[in-house]
Formats: sequence, structure tokens, C-alpha cells
Amino acid sequence: MSGIAVGILGSGKGSNCRAILEAIRDGSLQAEVRVVISDNFDAGILDIAREFGVSNAYLPPGKFRTRLEPETERELVRMLRDVGVQLVVLAGFMRVLKEPMLEAFPHRIINIHPSLLPKFPGVESWKQALAAGETVTGCTVHYVDSGIDSGEIIAQREVPILADDTPETLHARIQVAERELLPEVIGRFATN
Ligand code: GRF
Repeated sequence: MSGIAVGILGSGKGSNCRAILEAIRDGSLQAEVRVVISDNFDAGILDIAREFGVSNAYLPPGKFRTRLEPETERELVRMLRDVGVQLVVLAGFMRVLKEPMLEAFPHRIINIHPSLLPKFPGVESWKQALAAGETVTGCTVHYVDSGIDSGEIIAQREVPILADDTPETLHARIQVAERELLPEVIGRFATN
């Protein structure tokens, strides 16, 4: 195997997933993405997995909006274990994980969040930072626990807020920082 075995979960367009796969392709990240899984059938992240020839799956999420049903989450654990995943990376996965995943991968699930946690957890945190009149925000990679964006912080990158920033320009700049930080942190797991 070349590097650490990674499983990526995401619900959206997948720009962070692309950054990870590009870092692996250009040799700057010693990791292997074993599977990309989405709770959203139409998610761009699944197209990106296909583009890079990575195994991928749609996981029907069940009846809840913000979490998976327990049986679905146990199925997710099986899917990840079946392909030998050592590190689970949440890259825009919009559901809270519960005991089945947290117990199966203790200290082995990380998330990227677009703020300097513990400031501005939850959705659209760049809008929260703008509304609060901050001059600096950024992104955080943290361990996932049973709360919302509340797990132990692993690494952060600052992004300045400019006087003429709109939510869109700020979010775009934060995402550039995310795409650098997340592969870098995965690399730390790969070497430890
Ligand atoms: C990122 O901004 C990340 O911080 C948040 O969800 C977004 C996912 O974007 N958790 P993408 O799907 O990686 O483009």
C-alpha cells in the first residue's frame, strides 16, 4: 500500500476531495483513497471520484435530515472496513456521525470546517464571521466527536476578511485555504 488508506465522505461538490486526489497524484501526499461515499446521489464528489478512477458509492441516508439511521451508519462502517480504511475524512459531509462510526474509528475521523473554531460552528460560518465584524477568519481541521464541529482541533489556517468581501468572495478564499490545509493534515497521519 502507498501511504495511509483513506475513506472520504461528502455531500456536495467535492473540491476538497479533488484537492486530496490531486495531491496524491502529484506525489505530495502519501495516501490512497480507497472509497468516496456520499449521502447525496447527485453530489459532484461522486463524479470526481469517478474521474480519478476511485471506488465510490451512494449511501441512501434514510428518514433523518441531519444524521444517518443507526443501521445505515453500521452499513457505512462495514463499507469503510471492507476496503481497509484507516482514516475517515469528512469533506463537506452534512450529517452528524453517531456511536457506530465514532466507536469504529476512534480518533480516526477528521473534518474540515470553514471557520477558526471554536468560533462559528454550524452552517455558513463565513457569513457568521462577516456579520460579526471579524477581520480574520479561516478554516479548521478537527477530530470528529458527537457534537457539531466541536471535536479537538488539529490544525488551522487564517484567512483575512477584506473590506469589500461578500459572502461569496470570502467563502471562495477560505476554500482555497481548505484545499491546502486538508491534504497537509492527512499527510501528518500518513507519516505518524
Ligand atoms: C467546505 O467548505 C467545508 O469546509 C465544509 O463543506 C464544504 C465542502 O466543500 N465542511 P467541497 O464539497 O469540498 O467543495
